[in-house]
Amino acid sequence: MKCRRCRAPAVIDVRRHNAGFCAECFTRHCREQVRRAIEDHDMIHEGDRVLVAVSGGKDSLGLWQLLRELGYEADGLYVGLGIGSYSDRSGEFARAFAEQHAWPLLEIDLEETYGFDIPGGARAAKRVPCSACGLSKRHVFNDAAISNGYDILATGHNLDDEAAVLLGNVLRWDAGYLGRQHPVLPAAPGFVRKVKPLVRLGERELAAYCVLTGIDYIVEECPMAVGNRHLGYKDMLNQVEERSPGTKAAFLFGFIERGHERFAGDAAEEREDLRPCSECGAPTPGEVCAFCKLRSRAAAPRIPVRVEDVHAEVEA
Ligand code: AMP
Ligand code: FES
Ligand code: ZN
Repeated sequence: MKCRRCRAPAVIDVRRHNAGFCAECFTRHCREQVRRAIEDHDMIHEGDRVLVAVSGGKDSLGLWQLLRELGYEADGLYVGLGIGSYSDRSGEFARAFAEQHAWPLLEIDLEETYGFDIPGGARAAKRVPCSACGLSKRHVFNDAAISNGYDILATGHNLDDEAAVLLGNVLRWDAGYLGRQHPVLPAAPGFVRKVKPLVRLGERELAAYCVLTGIDYIVEECPMAVGNRHLGYKDMLNQVEERSPGTKAAFLFGFIERGHERFAGDAAEEREDLRPCSECGAPTPGEVCAFCKLRSRAAAPRIPVRVEDVHAEVEA
């Protein structure tokens, strides 16, 4: 196979685009997809200070580099979630990458700052680990961006992630979630603007981008995520994609272009009912926000919880 752009031998094929690329043209293709996503959705404006949430994985480290290559002044944010040795190693990858480029990396440790970690929080709140983890990440990312004066919080959610989330939301017809599922969530009182510049790139493309540009990332997945719903949806979509390449992108982009606006009103209604949490000030529909509730249950004196134990409990 030859490169679509320069006819040199191709090193990767992207079936969705029915095209092969050489290494140089492929990295250019990735940059172009990110540039287009930013432009199409008006994600970042001149002079905006961008904070990129980096987990040490391929998507977020790839995103940080792509944003820098496109000329944005993006700094990194790493959150230590306390998920055993997995968190220790992911932090090392994020730190090493930041040091290698001399790009500023903000670090927040959940236990040090908020008094609990994910395994302990999940058990105390009787929540599935990924639910406690997702809730905590959203809160900490928003808090870190606002208190450090950033205009934008960028995450490494890619096409595969977003399509899987969309499938889950559609299967339950969750109107509020569907109204909030968009590559850009505008700023609102108490909320920083949130963007997902990788929506036009798939998981495999991100892995190839990292390998081809020498980004050293943590390959192992979060040990607590094994068997969760989201991964099941990803598998289902991959099966469909295997039979008819391009379906995943058509599903997601069709929703963004034609479906999202039909649910935007539901999300706006939910936002109108928000008021500041009486403990932390973050917007919430109740008196105390879900993060503060989780925190107060989890931060009580306790015995440390091992990652493997929480996982076994959830499976049982
Ligand atoms: P996940 O929720 O694990 O699918 O991750 C989605 C995105 O959240 C990643 O692409 C990162 O941008 C961000 N992220 C996940 N874990 C962390 C972490 N520990 N610290 C900072 N950002 C993270
Ligand atoms: Fe963090 Fe599942 S516990 S992703
Ligand atoms: Zn709160």
